[in-house]
Amino acid sequence: GITRHYKFEIKLQNVTRLCHTKSMVTVNGKFPGPRIVAREGDRLLIEVVNHVSNNISIHWHGIRQLRSGWADGPAYITQCPIQTGQSYVYNYTIIGQRGTLFWHAHISWLRSTLYGPIIILPKHGVPYPFAKPYKEFPILFGEWWNSDTEAVIAQALQTGGGPNVSDAYTMNGLPGPLYNCSTKDTLKLKVKPGRTYLLRLVNAALNDELFFSIANHTLKIVDVDAIYVKPFETNTLLIAPGQTTNVLLQTKPHYPNATFFMLARPYVTGQGTFDNSTVAGILEYETSSLISTKNLPIYKPNLPPLNDTSFATNFTNKLRSLANSQFPANVPQNIDKKFLFTVGLGTNPCNQKNQTCQGPNGTMFAASINNISFVMPNTALLQAHYSGQSKGVYSPFFPNQPLIPFNYTGNPPNNTMVGNGTKLEVLPFNTTVELILQDTSILGAESHPLHLHGFNFFVVGQGFGNFDPNKDPPSFNLVDPVERNTVGVPAGGWVAIRFRADNPGVWFMHCHLEVHTSWGLKMAWLVLDGKLPNQKLLPPPADLPKC
Ligand code: C2O
Repeated sequence: GITRHYKFEIKLQNVTRLCHTKSMVTVNGKFPGPRIVAREGDRLLIEVVNHVSNNISIHWHGIRQLRSGWADGPAYITQCPIQTGQSYVYNYTIIGQRGTLFWHAHISWLRSTLYGPIIILPKHGVPYPFAKPYKEFPILFGEWWNSDTEAVIAQALQTGGGPNVSDAYTMNGLPGPLYNCSTKDTLKLKVKPGRTYLLRLVNAALNDELFFSIANHTLKIVDVDAIYVKPFETNTLLIAPGQTTNVLLQTKPHYPNATFFMLARPYVTGQGTFDNSTVAGILEYETSSLISTKNLPIYKPNLPPLNDTSFATNFTNKLRSLANSQFPANVPQNIDKKFLFTVGLGTNPCNQKNQTCQGPNGTMFAASINNISFVMPNTALLQAHYSGQSKGVYSPFFPNQPLIPFNYTGNPPNNTMVGNGTKLEVLPFNTTVELILQDTSILGAESHPLHLHGFNFFVVGQGFGNFDPNKDPPSFNLVDPVERNTVGVPAGGWVAIRFRADNPGVWFMHCHLEVHTSWGLKMAWLVLDGKLPNQKLLPPPADLPKC
């Protein structure tokens, strides 16, 4: 591989959408931010310079960061934030991954404007396991707020209620013609008839899983989270925040005398308010300048109903690893440690003196894993661990059972309160882990896209209701389960994942719905060094930010 250099200047830029102009934090003045293009095996040196008043950190979502945990990016987990006027060089090598990932800010809600694609091409001379596409397009889904998202979340955390929902969804930053004052901000894909295109889809939205479809065209799924899958065709796909999906789009053999909407709108399982609007882009066939595309009919795809859980289940069940000799699925077969973690919403006591909190029954909203709502430390966990100064920063005793015994199918408990703390689950190097993530209905069941830093995992099973340790494991798929970094825990159900803890460091795991992360649906794993020199975390770089 080669070394590729990027420079990310974090600066303010005025951006206008829906006839609202706001000054927002950007990388190099671009929204969405710049693309990173590299090949498997390349080393990336990305210098991030902070010219704004916010603290900044950037995460390379899905990059394994083997032994390079200092470059992972979540603020207060692997690094202190980059403060105003300071800079930090993220230094890592892409090992064993090719496909689409993305980078985003990993502090507060700044990822609403700081995100961009990471395109990882195979090594030179190595083909895709499908015919070479004629052209490739990244499409990033996002959310647009007319107001400043830092104010949105600050207000929500202060009052304990749900945050204001976004004003629009976007594709590559563009809301499209179904919103007021937005027709000129429409993503247009210009295609030729009879060709194959590779669309690299990224869900960078803050709070919504999305359905996506293109009218009168089928999509062939070939890759998720930068891992090839057994190809299959679908009219609509589901993509959760934190997930990426590569699809092949085969265009019509002849010029079709129509243009086609590409639509995305949310899949909703929770009870709260949400943005129920639809982002539209246009698939337009290029033609000679003699024929006008102006008055062509526009076809619209039919998207599933907002709460179509059976679509979601069928779709995710179809995702399978290639699991062939070139791309084997190394599913851990013998498990050293089994965990069951509940994930869900709960409450904290109101901390305001004279006002009522806006959470349920005058409380503050909280969210938890095993009933622990994670409290962000004020120094970075990885630095505390590495320097041996963890005392007072974190506890290495993560509760292995939920504190409130919980029966999903029963009535919700009267006590919705969570515990709070900064607790880590410690794993010796190379531990094989099976983790059941069980959704709770304490404040209503909801699908949670759980993201694990530092690893890919295999999704070996999923189901509804309570996980049954006797009945469910025999049906696990240990042959060709999909391998990924973000998985939707089904609303009112569970998902089983397996991974090998072969990457020393501190690795964040959290719901990729930003509001749930803010409420505490997050925790971290501490993976210890192995005995051999190449099983140890590398030393911290000299420019690592200080808190
Ligand atoms: Cu994409 Cu911890 O995040």
